[in-house]
Amino acid sequence: MKISQLFLCFILFSIFTISFPSAAAPVVDIDGNPVLVGVDYYILPVIRGRGGGLTLASTGNKSCPLDVVQEPLEVNNGLPLTFRPANSSEGVVHVSADQNFIFSAASICVQSTVWVLYEEESTQTFFITTGGVAGNPGRETISNWFRIDEYEGDYKLVYCPGVCNICRVRCGDIGVLVQDGERRLALTDDAPFKLLSLCSLLLISIYIAAAAESPAAVLDILGKQLRVGTDYYILPVVRGRGGGLTLSTAAGNESCPLDVVQERLEIKKGLPLTFQPANAKKGVVRVSTDHNIKFSASSTCVESTVWKLDYEESSQKYFITTGGVEGNPGRETLSNWFKIEEYGSDYKLVFCPTLCNYCKVICRDISIFVEDNGVRRRLGLNLTDAAPAPFKVMFKKAN
Ligand SMILES: *[C@@H]1O[C@H](CO)[C@@H](O)[C@H](O)[C@H]1NC(C)=O
Ligand SMILES: *[C@@H]1O[C@H](CO)[C@@H](O)[C@H](O)[C@H]1NC(C)=O
Ligand SMILES: *[C@@H]1O[C@H](CO)[C@@H](O)[C@H](O)[C@H]1NC(C)=O
Ligand SMILES: *[C@@H]1O[C@H](CO)[C@@H](O)[C@H](O)[C@H]1NC(C)=O
Repeated sequence: MKISQLFLCFILFSIFTISFPSAAAPVVDIDGNPVLVGVDYYILPVIRGRGGGLTLASTGNKSCPLDVVQEPLEVNNGLPLTFRPANSSEGVVHVSADQNFIFSAASICVQSTVWVLYEEESTQTFFITTGGVAGNPGRETISNWFRIDEYEGDYKLVYCPGVCNICRVRCGDIGVLVQDGERRLALTDDAPFKLLSLCSLLLISIYIAAAAESPAAVLDILGKQLRVGTDYYILPVVRGRGGGLTLSTAAGNESCPLDVVQERLEIKKGLPLTFQPANAKKGVVRVSTDHNIKFSASSTCVESTVWKLDYEESSQKYFITTGGVEGNPGRETLSNWFKIEEYGSDYKLVFCPTLCNYCKVICRDISIFVEDNGVRRRLGLNLTDAAPAPFKVMFKKAN
């Protein structure tokens, strides 16, 4: 991957001043609403019958990082992505303003899902792949900035970063290069030594479609929306069968990490917890969304208090324990993500991570498994038909 050559800085050549065009019109989605920073959108082609939305794929013989490609089928919207303007105080996406484009889904690669331009040396073609860094506008990050420009009543994607006032960059529209059945996004500039036939270039204009509506917010027992990072107790709805959730080991066993268990006594609220969604630092906790769940209290173990799914050999059951890691949604962290789902007029907890597009996981309700003659009430997965009914829960703000 050779990025540097393209962006050689001709310091003597010309001086650009950094000017974020905040006066420019906002980009609008297909409903005519301004496109907002940090919200999920799909980028779809305007021209019908030539593929669908944008997604990630390994192309050629390359495995990681994944390239940005167009879905072959028009019915596929591809993956949602968010925009992050170079001017971080902007709340909406403006026409012709530099943005990071970031796929919201996690990928199987360790690299980020931030778009980046790279040159394929064998063909001297500039393709869009992922693994870029978000933010830090300047010379070092010049290959990570893309724009949305108006184009004949619709939009097109453009690479022409203005984030470095001493750099002279090669600007170009972004098109789809069809090669061996793969529809890769590439710069459609007419560079002199391009080995690939220009005929295979297909310039598409692109517009923005609003992503599916966000799922409903989870409500606490007062009817207020659950906030990310705020302390709550998870309490049982059904009375007379234990209290809130806490940490414990098996009787007479001091081994770490501690398991997530239900208090035996209904009057005990247990320990407060926080919820952290996979793709947002703040905001509300939503149903059907992957979250890290973490006890706010510290434990006697060195392990974290982040919930984690663990397989117990002796009982051949999956239980919820602690010692998980926060963040890094993807294949490596699958066992650390849990969802809250509506269950009648209440809620249940579910293990069903959907943050790795390439992983297949089974979705399971979380139930209470009573052990040691009722002494221990552990949270585990409903793997068999004999499993207890889902643990019906409600949320109470701590303090
Ligand atoms: C960045 O955006 C803010 C909010 O729109 C605006 O007030 C400010 O002037 C912009 N900064 C630059 C350098 O253009
Ligand atoms: C992929 O690898 C095969 C065999 O190693 C080779 O023949 C082919 O040219 C490679 N394709 C690309 C696009 O590099
Ligand atoms: C304590 O727990 C560990 C791990 O679950 C297990 O290997 C060990 O046998 C247990 N010891 C007792 C006394 O139950
Ligand atoms: C376990 O939970 C999943 C996910 O909600 C559900 O579809 C499945 O029917 C449950 N299985 C049993 C045996 O209760």
